Amino acid sequence: MFEIKENISLKNYNTFGIDAESRYFVECSSINEILDFIEKHKKQDLPLMILGGGSNVLFTKFFNGYILRPSIKGIEIMEETKDHVVLRVGAGEDWDEFVGYCVDNNWGGVENLSLIPGNVGTCPIQNIGAYGVEVKDVIVEVETIDIKNLKINLFQNSDCKFAYRDSIFKTKLKGKQIITYVSFKLKKQSEYKLDYGNLIDELKQYDEVNLKNIRQAVIDIRNSKLPKPEEIGNAGSFFKNPVVSKERFKKLEALYPEIPHYKQSDGLVKIPAGWLIEKAGWKGKRVGNTGVHEKQALVIVNYGNATGEEIIHLARNIQQTIIIKFDLELEMEVNVV
Ligand code: EPU
Repeated sequence: MFEIKENISLKNYNTFGIDAESRYFVECSSINEILDFIEKHKKQDLPLMILGGGSNVLFTKFFNGYILRPSIKGIEIMEETKDHVVLRVGAGEDWDEFVGYCVDNNWGGVENLSLIPGNVGTCPIQNIGAYGVEVKDVIVEVETIDIKNLKINLFQNSDCKFAYRDSIFKTKLKGKQIITYVSFKLKKQSEYKLDYGNLIDELKQYDEVNLKNIRQAVIDIRNSKLPKPEEIGNAGSFFKNPVVSKERFKKLEALYPEIPHYKQSDGLVKIPAGWLIEKAGWKGKRVGNTGVHEKQALVIVNYGNATGEEIIHLARNIQQTIIIKFDLELEMEVNVV
């Protein structure tokens, strides 16, 4: 049975380490508990927010409502052939522990997504991605509960409308569905994605390229650039990398011939926001309790007691500078509450 806690600090429930409070907080460890809770909650006129690992959220003030944290556990094999395995995983499983489990079993597909903070249940929302892989590449289906009518829904991969750091759960269905389980299809045959950035170089020190070594290489690259949330509060990339037309890119390239970029399959060009922010002079800058990480300018950090408002203020200043310098708008990737 779930317990509804009152006026609790969210500091330990968001990787930014923001000390905001929520009026009510509840953890549910099964579909039935969630259904039970929603039935009871419906009678009250307070907002409901679903929180996963808290790795992509910025609390700016007291949350006068209910925060529901699905903590459903379990990994079940749904299908297994000589080539692949399909796993159904509870929303409350820790993402990186799940990746470790797959690698230990020699099931490939998520190794490039090692060490991403958060839970399995939130990985589809923003279609987490790193080192040339996005979670949409391995998701089969997403199971949810519709908050309004309490129906259990199944979203097949194509129903999820996955795009770069985006899905239907972030747009049309934002706040409307509670993700309970996610199913993944993983490969038993070796097929690796090694063409992103310095991954291949990082792997040169190993005798063999295998899932375990790829996972370790990704962990090492991430540790060298990204601050550990347990040490310095952060939510990974604060902004999305802007995607611009070819024409717009040509103009920027004429001014900055060294500008890094990734051509997209639709002809558009993605520009690393970290480069833009660094070029604008923000990298490593500290403003009171917040700042721009010294090794990766895309990450805003909390040096200790920052408030959500302070972080938003810094983010807006950065956005402003990028408009003035490059005439580009940076979209926040983090969910501001
Ligand atoms: N760059 C700079 N200065 C910086 C940071 C980056 O010049 O301070 C340049 C790098 O030199 C490189 C390019 O920007 O040429 C790309 O940098 P990096 O490989 O570090 O990746 P990113 O584009 O900054 C994205 C994801 C990360 C993910 C990495 C690796 C987004 C918003 N971010 O960052 O995801 O780990 O690629 O795949 O797409 C996250 O979403 O929280 C996250 C960390």
